Amino acid sequence: MTTGRPQPSDSGRREAPWWEGAVGYQIYVRSFADSTGDGMGDLRGIAERLDYLYWLGIDAVWLTPFYPSPGHDHGYDVADYCDVAPRHGSLADFDRLVERAHGLGLKVVVDLVPNHTSIEHEWFAEARRGRRNPFRDRYLWADPAPDGGPPNNWVSHFGGPAWTLDEATGQYWCHLFLPEQPDLNWRNEQVRESFDEVLRWWIERGVDGFRVDVAHGLMKDARLRDNPQIAPVGAGMDPFDAFDCFEHRHDMDQPANTDLFRRWHRICGPHEVMLLGEVNVPWPDRMSQYVAAGVLDRAFFLPTAWLGWAPEDLLQMVRTMHDAAPQGISWVQSNHDRSRVAGRYGGGEAGVRRALAVTALFMALGGTPFLYQGEELGLCDGVLLGDPHDPVAARNRGARNGRDGCRTPMPWAAGDQNGFSSRRPWIEAAPRPLAHTVQGQRADLAAPVHCYRSLLAARRRHPDLWQAPLKWLDAPGPATAALQRGSVAVVANLGRRRAEFELPPGRWTEAFASTTGSEVRGHRADVGPECALVLVGSGH
Ligand code: NOJ
Repeated sequence: MTTGRPQPSDSGRREAPWWEGAVGYQIYVRSFADSTGDGMGDLRGIAERLDYLYWLGIDAVWLTPFYPSPGHDHGYDVADYCDVAPRHGSLADFDRLVERAHGLGLKVVVDLVPNHTSIEHEWFAEARRGRRNPFRDRYLWADPAPDGGPPNNWVSHFGGPAWTLDEATGQYWCHLFLPEQPDLNWRNEQVRESFDEVLRWWIERGVDGFRVDVAHGLMKDARLRDNPQIAPVGAGMDPFDAFDCFEHRHDMDQPANTDLFRRWHRICGPHEVMLLGEVNVPWPDRMSQYVAAGVLDRAFFLPTAWLGWAPEDLLQMVRTMHDAAPQGISWVQSNHDRSRVAGRYGGGEAGVRRALAVTALFMALGGTPFLYQGEELGLCDGVLLGDPHDPVAARNRGARNGRDGCRTPMPWAAGDQNGFSSRRPWIEAAPRPLAHTVQGQRADLAAPVHCYRSLLAARRRHPDLWQAPLKWLDAPGPATAALQRGSVAVVANLGRRRAEFELPPGRWTEAFASTTGSEVRGHRADVGPECALVLVGSGH
């Protein structure tokens, strides 16, 4: 099926890759749509719901891992990189999904998990057989410290040391996440070649991009040196806090990471396949190295997906990051690893209003912004029923940051399972009211989903929003920002009081307003609190 909807790159330069101007949407596969009634999201369920994303105005979907996996980290522990887990469907379902997406003009980005495999991957099973096994060196092994303990002081993101002893061979394996996620040794040429093959295999199947999990973590210090400790780790501490007690000088963000992505770029580039890294590095200058020419095409900048409502900090962070890598960032406010943005910004109407205002600004920052499923409905985290599923919460008594709340089923309609499944979902949550569902919101023109849809439509109508050079304009205070890109301008007032912006001379008119109540006269905009406007100028 072809739709005739203009694609972002149609309105821009013809030679631009598809991700210039595109807006992505993250699908958390387990919780998006279940077509078989087993309570688990699947690929057929996604294919059946693509019409909705097309209607919303999305250009690309990123699918979280759907590969065979024992599921200790809900799919981020991959046992086979080139297959589909039966719980999510089959390769034939994947092919149909891609065909359907492409028919609608939507691109498909899959998740690549190269930092670690599952403990059940056949490479690790081999590697464990003995120190001389030809697969041994595909992983990071080290002898015990003199006291028999772990070889160094590295800690796992998910609690405890980053090392587990393999009794049979007397060495520890490294895991920056769960023990069931052994880290690969990226100095090993077989690992590099195997992943070249994985990339080619999915490119052949028609994918349009790879989201690279833990892209900042692949290379480790060759001498496995201790990380400098900056604070004491308390007993029962939240694992993310314990992780922050160290300066990750030797286990993360090693300069050689970018060599790996240059290699992948040579494979993906000729096919116009995007490399989008999860680069968990808070420093804009370091981030910019990952999205330099010939490295990754885009990187998620995660601090904006963690922040509570702190407009001044947010705007400063966004501006610095933008200026360090003007086209390289995939701007996000939510994903499957942290609380949803509407809740972080205070919940209720305020949370929805603030999130939309920031999204309007993000749409003008270049790069490739992403929404997380349900963000367009203004959802807060789901209310969990039953025990935690996320290993961060389930395995650590002191954990504050369990990730289950942002992973509850996508609410399609009213009812017990909110239209996600005909049976009890894999993760149980209190049903959402009709007003928080796709069905309820599509029927209500004032609902958040229509605001997001209008914003995406405005971006499509005014390609200057992402392709004309960006100029920051003077803004009236620290909780405000203003920018111009060719014929369009965006003014964001994230403060509590109205703010008066002065734009370059000319007549400006509203193309999108995140809330009502602002007024634009000539080149002056009187903008309501916590509101962003997209403006179109005559003669610019
Ligand atoms: C980042 C992913 O987003 C997260 O869900 C996962 O647990 C870790 N990487 C480990 O793969």
